[in-house]
Amino acid sequence: MVKEKGADLMAQLSGKSIYLTGGASGIGRAVTEAFIKEGAAVTILDKSPVGLQELKQQFGEKVQCIEGDVTVYEDHVRAVETAVEFFGKLDVFVANAGVFDGFAKFEHVTPEAMSAAYDLLMDINVKGYFNGARASVAELKKTSGNMIFTVSGAGYYPDGGGVWYTASKHAQIGLMRQLAFELAPEVRVNAVAPGGTLTALHVIPPLEPFVKIVDNDTKEKSIKKRNPLQIAMKSEDHVGAYILLASDQARAITGEVISSDGGLAVRGLG
Ligand SMILES: NC(=O)c1ccc[n+]([C@@H]2O[C@H](COP(=O)([O-])OP(=O)(O)OC[C@H]3O[C@@H](n4cnc5c(N)ncnc54)[C@H](O)[C@@H]3O)[C@@H](O)[C@H]2O)c1
Repeated sequence: MVKEKGADLMAQLSGKSIYLTGGASGIGRAVTEAFIKEGAAVTILDKSPVGLQELKQQFGEKVQCIEGDVTVYEDHVRAVETAVEFFGKLDVFVANAGVFDGFAKFEHVTPEAMSAAYDLLMDINVKGYFNGARASVAELKKTSGNMIFTVSGAGYYPDGGGVWYTASKHAQIGLMRQLAFELAPEVRVNAVAPGGTLTALHVIPPLEPFVKIVDNDTKEKSIKKRNPLQIAMKSEDHVGAYILLASDQARAITGEVISSDGGLAVRGLG
C-alpha cells in the first residue's frame, strides 16, 4: 500500500482539549507530555504547586495549570471552565490523580487508622473520579468526547496493594463500566491499567506506621520479578494506551480496560 505523503507526521490528537488530574508527577506527567507532542492542549488539576510550575515552564501556552484537590467538586468545575475558556472546548477527561496504601495488612491496622485510611483513600481515588466525570460530562457531550480512567492491575488481582487500594481500583473499574453504559452513545469511557511503575505514588499518612518503606532498587527488582515481560515499568511505558483511547482511532471502543502491565494476566500457575 502506498502511504500518503506526510501521513507519518500527522499528530493523533491535533486540536484536542484534554483535562487531566494528577499531571504534575509520574504517569500523569508522562501522559501530559505525550498528549502535547500529539498536538493536544492540556488542562491539569493537581495539588502540587511546584509540579504545576514546572509543567508551565516546560509547556507554556499548551498547558493550563489549576492548583486544587480532586476531592473538591468545585475544583473540577474550575478546571473544566478553564479548559473551555482557553482552548474553546473539552474533548477528553483523564481521571488519574491517586494515592496508595503501601500494601498495609488489614489485620495489623488499628480500627481507627482503618477508618481514617478508608475516608482519605476512597475520597481521592474514587470520589475524585466521580467528581471529575460529573464536572466534565456536559462539555464532553458537546464534542462526542471520551473519558479515560487510570486504574491498575489492583483493579483485577490481589496483592497490587492492600485492601484500601485494591477496593478503590475495583471501584474505579465499576464506575468506568457503568458510565460507559449510561453515557453511550455520546461519550466513550475507558481505562488504562498500569502495572507496578516507578513513580512517587504516595502512601497516605494514616497507614504510614503500618508500612515498610521500600527503597527504589528493591521496588524495581520486585516489579520486574512479578510480570512475565520482566519490565520495571516507567511512566512513559503507558502513554501509547492513553493516546489510542483519547484519539478518534478508538471511536468503537467503550467500557474497556487496556492493561499495560507486562502481562499480569498470563503469569500462569507455576
Ligand atoms: N505507580 C504505580 O505503580 C501505579 C500502578 C498502577 C496504577 N497507578 C495509578 O496511576 C495514577 C497516578 O499515580 P502515579 O504513580 O503517577 O503517582 P504520582 O504520585 O507520581 O502522581 C500522582 C499525582 O496526583 C496528585 N494528587 C494526589 N492526590 C491529589 C489530590 N487529592 N488532588 C489533586 N492532585 C492529587 C499528586 O500531587 C501527583 O502529582 C494513580 O491513579 C495510581 O493509582 C500507579
